[in-house]
Amino acid sequence: MKETDFVLPAYESSLDSGKAQWSAPSNIALIKYWGKYASQIPANASVSFTLTNCKTETTVAFKKRSNQDQDYDLTVLFEGIINNDFRPKIETFFSRVEPYLPFLKKYHFEISTSNTFPHSSGIASSASGMAALALCLMDIERQIYPKMTDEYFFGKASFLARLGSGSACRSIKGPLVEWGKHPLINHSTNLYGIEYPFEVHEVFKSYQDTILLVHKGAKTVSSTVGHDLMKGHLFAEQRFQQAKENLGKMIEVFATGDIAKFIEIVESEALSLHAMMMSSLPYFILMKPNTLQIIERIWEYRKSTGGQLCFTLDAGANVHLLYPENEKEKVKNFIDSELVAYCENGHYICDRVGDGAKKL
Ligand code: PMV
Repeated sequence: MKETDFVLPAYESSLDSGKAQWSAPSNIALIKYWGKYASQIPANASVSFTLTNCKTETTVAFKKRSNQDQDYDLTVLFEGIINNDFRPKIETFFSRVEPYLPFLKKYHFEISTSNTFPHSSGIASSASGMAALALCLMDIERQIYPKMTDEYFFGKASFLARLGSGSACRSIKGPLVEWGKHPLINHSTNLYGIEYPFEVHEVFKSYQDTILLVHKGAKTVSSTVGHDLMKGHLFAEQRFQQAKENLGKMIEVFATGDIAKFIEIVESEALSLHAMMMSSLPYFILMKPNTLQIIERIWEYRKSTGGQLCFTLDAGANVHLLYPENEKEKVKNFIDSELVAYCENGHYICDRVGDGAKKL
């Protein structure tokens, strides 16, 4: 679908009020997106595992307004309490998606949202949050315009979520989502995420992700600032090329279940992402000493046990442990005996690959 396909023929809404309710999961990138052009167009294609337990649940209640020419009319609640801190982000999102959703000024919206993971755990909620909100808005558009197909509904939800936060477009479907134009993937597009279209080995359909919460505070660098640092970065072009090649290599890895190769690519992607931040100007180190301790323990564990455990990182200090389901018991013992000591207040979250957002 092209950008213009996301504007429906002019419609009038006869709906006076109603509501929409969706939950959307977080996702963890295996091939990282870092660097973008205007309107969240990614500089390279990325691919992620959709998660199951870390998710945002959002309800949007809407009611027709009498005065429809004024600015957006929003009430925002987080965990049941009115929250004005989130309003500016949601208003910006509304202004970006309004060209595709002409009803946004016609209603008062009460947006009520909560996360299943602890607030300020250092886990980015923007992907799941923007995906859940985009799905609620699409649900409302479908109530107004019921002829819409599922393909259009989910494609446009991902397209809208992207305008809120790039990686959010990968939080609609699962278990693997690809986003960004890639020469080896037909139908791949910079506009929205697609379900990974090729063969996926069974092992990846139940892959585990345990998130070690090394540092729960806010990130030192927001992803907006981080993406911006790739503009004019000395190694930017090489990095985009590396991501493109790594995604190409992953196609065989996903099909064959070659976990040794999977580990090599995934860890290299995580470290390359951080290397970009260390070599930009200004430069940042987003890992904490405990992040490095954990990485070393993982490498020792692999060497001494032959276990197929690896790590990936977001733009922060927390560590995602990725491993096949049949190693769950052993990894749990390893975490509890060795890794938990490096987590803030001993906190970690057990998650696994999932199949995407759900209507509530
Ligand atoms: O969606 P954003 O703008 O928050 O960027 C996310 C970037 C990373 O999480 C570091 C990588 C990725 O592909 O998710």
